[in-house]
Amino acid sequence: MKFIAGNWKMNGSAAALKNMTSALRDVDTKNTVVLCVPFTMLTHDTDGVALGAQDVSAHDHGAYTGEVSAQMLKDAGARYVIVGHSERRQYHDETNDIVRDKAAAAIEAGITPIICVGETMDEKQAGKTMAIIESGVRESVPTDTNGKIVIAYEPRWAIGAGLTPTAAEIAEAHTLIAKTLESMGLAGTPVLYGASVKGSNAAEIMSIPNVDGVLVGGASLKPDDFIPIITSMK
Ligand code: 13P
Repeated sequence: MKFIAGNWKMNGSAAALKNMTSALRDVDTKNTVVLCVPFTMLTHDTDGVALGAQDVSAHDHGAYTGEVSAQMLKDAGARYVIVGHSERRQYHDETNDIVRDKAAAAIEAGITPIICVGETMDEKQAGKTMAIIESGVRESVPTDTNGKIVIAYEPRWAIGAGLTPTAAEIAEAHTLIAKTLESMGLAGTPVLYGASVKGSNAAEIMSIPNVDGVLVGGASLKPDDFIPIITSMK
């Protein structure tokens, strides 16, 4: 059984979500499927499909104009939230410390954070990939996870670029993440791979040791692209 999450980023509409959830209702799968949509599309009317948000405030409530708390996400229908996506780290200067606080707020509210880590092209070229991944996991995961977190490894240089690391590179990164989680007492935490996943490479990627599923960007927007990813693994 694999964990397959779509990240719609700033795309879609209520109508597109309805179209997707009704298409997903008929898909015969044992995999866990989650759609992470913009705040405005969160709803309780999901045809049984689990929804997630793409960001959350680290604060509970109060004078934080424009922010949305974890409790509000839950109230709106979210069961998951992506935290520390590379686009948040890049455009909103989110650090591991901020990501950890956001993940903790989600856990406190009973929402599962999907915590993203991964290296930039500069970091890769400087030979820092493994160090960035390990510190990303150690510093972005809260101490008290209540057994409810998901990690996503997203090589930032490959996102939306149609690029993918080699199977050996993915295996090396995921093995390191699994070992790091184990040393933190978090063995068994699902670890997803994300960057340029599509129907044609999903099965191969999910067969790599320690890859428990995928986080899919562009190919999660249309049922014709997303469903083959879900059905590519039993
Ligand atoms: P793409 O699948 O479009 O490369 O995006 C990956 C991603 O950022 C998922 O969170």
